[in-house]
Amino acid sequence: MARTNSTAVPHHVAIVMDGNGRWATRRFLPRIAGHQQGVGALNRCVQACMARGIGVLTVFAFSSENWNRPAEEVSGLMELLALSLAREVPSLKANGVQLHFVGERQQLSDKVRAGLTQAEAATAENSRLVLNVCFNYGGRWDIAQAARKLVASGEEITEMALDRALSLAHVPDPDLLIRTGGELRISNFLLWQAAYSELHFSDKLWPDFDDAALDEAIAFYASRERRFGKTSGQITPGTPQTTVKAA
Ligand code: IPE
Ligand code: IPE
Ligand code: MG
Repeated sequence: MARTNSTAVPHHVAIVMDGNGRWATRRFLPRIAGHQQGVGALNRCVQACMARGIGVLTVFAFSSENWNRPAEEVSGLMELLALSLAREVPSLKANGVQLHFVGERQQLSDKVRAGLTQAEAATAENSRLVLNVCFNYGGRWDIAQAARKLVASGEEITEMALDRALSLAHVPDPDLLIRTGGELRISNFLLWQAAYSELHFSDKLWPDFDDAALDEAIAFYASRERRFGKTSGQITPGTPQTTVKAA
C-alpha cells in the first residue's frame, strides 16, 4: 500500500473562508451578519489549529476583487476589520499568535493601516501559531509586486528570488488548502504558493466550519500521497513499478 501522510498534521493550512453571505441570506439576515459570524468561526479555527499542532494558518479575508461588491458591504467589511482588531488582538496576543496582514495596504484607511501595524508589532514576539490574514490580497497582485521589487533592485528574476520577494516569504508553502462554501475554484488566492498544496473543498459555509470539518480536512490530507513530481515508487520503495524503457 502506498505510504500516505497518515501521521502528519499539515504544518501550514490555508483557507478560503467562503460562504458568509449565503449563511446570512439563508437566515434572511443582511450579508454583513454572515461576515460577523465569520469572525467567530475564525476565532474557533485558530484555537483548533493550535490544539492540533498546526504551525501556520493563512486565511483569505478580502480579495483584490471584493472591492467590486456593493459599497455598503465593502464599508461594512472595513468596519468589521477595524472592530475585530480592537476586540481580538488582546486574546490572540495572550494565546501566542503571531499576526501578519498580507495584501496591498495603500487602499486602506489610515486608521485601519495603523491598526494592522500595531497588531503586528504587538504579536511579533509570539511563536505558537503564525496567523496570516490576507486582506486586499490577490495572488496576481502578489506576483506583480514581487516582480516590481526585483526589477527595482536590479536582481535577476529567478524562482528563488521571486519566492523571497512574495508577501508570504516568512512561511513555507501551504501543505493543505481548504475552501469552504462549496465552490471548486481558487479565486486568486496563493497562486504561486499553492503549486503543491493538497486541495480540500468543503460544502460547509464558513460560519458553520467547526472542529469536525477541520478534522475531516486533516484526515483528507493524511490520506494523500504527496509526490512533488516523482513516482509512487520513489516515495515508497517496494511499490510495484513498471519499468520505463527508453525508446
Ligand atoms: C467570503 O464570504 C467572505 C468575503 C469574500 C469577504 P462571501 O461573502 O463570499 O459569501 P458568499 O460566497 O456570498 O456566500
Ligand atoms: C474568495 O471568495 C475571497 C474570500 C473568501 C475573501 P469570493 O466569494 O470573493 O470568490 P468568488 O467571487 O465566488 O470566486
Ligand atoms: Mg463568496
